[in-house]
Amino acid sequence: APVSVSALLKSRIRTVRDWPKPGVNFRDATTLFHDPEAFRATIDAFAEDCAKQEIDIIAAVDARGFILGGALAYKLGKPFALVRKKGKLPYKTVSEDYHLEYGTAAVEIHADACKAGDRVLIVDDLIATGGTLLAATKLFRVLHGEVIGVAAVIDLPELGGSKRLRDVGLKVHALCE
Ligand code: PRP
Ligand code: ADE
Repeated sequence: APVSVSALLKSRIRTVRDWPKPGVNFRDATTLFHDPEAFRATIDAFAEDCAKQEIDIIAAVDARGFILGGALAYKLGKPFALVRKKGKLPYKTVSEDYHLEYGTAAVEIHADACKAGDRVLIVDDLIATGGTLLAATKLFRVLHGEVIGVAAVIDLPELGGSKRLRDVGLKVHALCE
């Protein structure tokens, strides 16, 4: 993203110290969602990155990812698929456990969230260790979807997540660090 977009977004993201645990600087995107100009700049920047690749499905991660992925799917006119925290989806699911900067969790998609060969972009607000987006990627790969990349507002490069994701062949679109 251009320096001006990245600077705008950074100025709209709040940092909450020691949350949810001592030592974590939580990058809080709710303040960005609250600012219409910054929210629009975010979705427009994602859409511009997406224009460079053919995409069949926009997927996004529970919970903040839904806000971004939903808006992007609307803008691009693409199907939207939900990557939910375990136990929330009503139909047949595929499930994957993963580790977080501050705990463990599991994510799921519906077994018909994509067809074999579908080109999937997965959206979330932030990449820390990359565990969440890696788990989400594995889910679509189980269904023989082709995950072509991931898009996030924030990358925390010192936690190594974006590198892990690139190492498994994903294109990483991040709007600021
Ligand atoms: C945050 C964030 C990403 C994930 C990134 O969500 O929204 O999904 O952590 O961390 P990772 O790169 O180390 O996997 P969180 O798990 O806190 O869940 P929430 O959306 O329910 O708050
Ligand atoms: N998820 C994992 N680490 C995080 C952080 N530092 N800020 C916001 N979300 C996160």
